[in-house]
Amino acid sequence: MNQPLAYVHPGAKIAKNVVIEPFATIHNNVTIGEGSWIGSNVTIMEGARIGKNCNIFPGAVISAPPQDLKYQGEETTVEIGNNVTIYQCVTLGGSNPTNGVPGKRHPTIRDNVIIGSGAQIIGPITVGDRARVGANAVVTDDVPEGATMIGLKARSTLVKAETWAKEFMPYGTPCEEPCEPGNQRIESLEEQIATLRQQVDALLAEREALNPKAQIVREGK
Ligand SMILES: CC(C)(COP(=O)(O)OP(=O)(O)OC[C@H]1O[C@@H](n2cnc3c(N)ncnc32)[C@H](O)[C@@H]1OP(=O)(O)O)[C@@H](O)C(=O)NCCC(=O)NCCS
Repeated sequence: MNQPLAYVHPGAKIAKNVVIEPFATIHNNVTIGEGSWIGSNVTIMEGARIGKNCNIFPGAVISAPPQDLKYQGEETTVEIGNNVTIYQCVTLGGSNPTNGVPGKRHPTIRDNVIIGSGAQIIGPITVGDRARVGANAVVTDDVPEGATMIGLKARSTLVKAETWAKEFMPYGTPCEEPCEPGNQRIESLEEQIATLRQQVDALLAEREALNPKAQIVREGK
């Protein structure tokens, strides 16, 4: 390993024959086994353990420094076995430990796994030996050995209005125009009256033109 453009923390334990491409960032206490290849712009957070002969393609994030203040300074608990291929822009990310696995917030990837580009693998789950994760899949549950996983976990959960709305909105939709049906009805009737007035005025003017001597009394005149 001799890549002057990569950032490798002096506390990282990098085995021989590991290739690290430019602009990779490898934090303290990371372990990388013999024969592995770390592509450019890969980020590997403190404490991650990566086995032998793994290939990690550009832009993958093997856990990132936690954003939540209560986890600041913690090491990642990501573990990656041997002969694992992680394609570009994959994230192996942490979750809030709500599932009762103490101290473990990040995934464990067993041997010979292939993770397709853009996949997001989140939480203290285990991806079993020889499993394949499809490109862009979102994986938040354990993956059995040899399984092929595709698709998104995402599903619609309507955000409760009170969690984001600053003011009460009767119909849930912020809009410039009036939203009260009663008011809308009155405005519509006012518009109709104005139109009818215009039409009556036009008819009276027409009649006056035909018979200038006729005395026509108009409202307000
Ligand atoms: C998931 C994967 C491993 C499956 O490969 P496979 O076993 O050869 O499967 P197939 O291509 O026969 O596809 C089987 C079905 O899954 C669907 N499928 C495959 N990959 C998918 C994916 N990532 N997301 C959603 N659906 C997918 C196919 O459309 C097909 O559906 P159908 O049966 O309705 O036609 C592969 O498609 C994949 O995503 N590999 C990662 C590739 C990658 O990231 N390459 C980057 C290299 S630069």
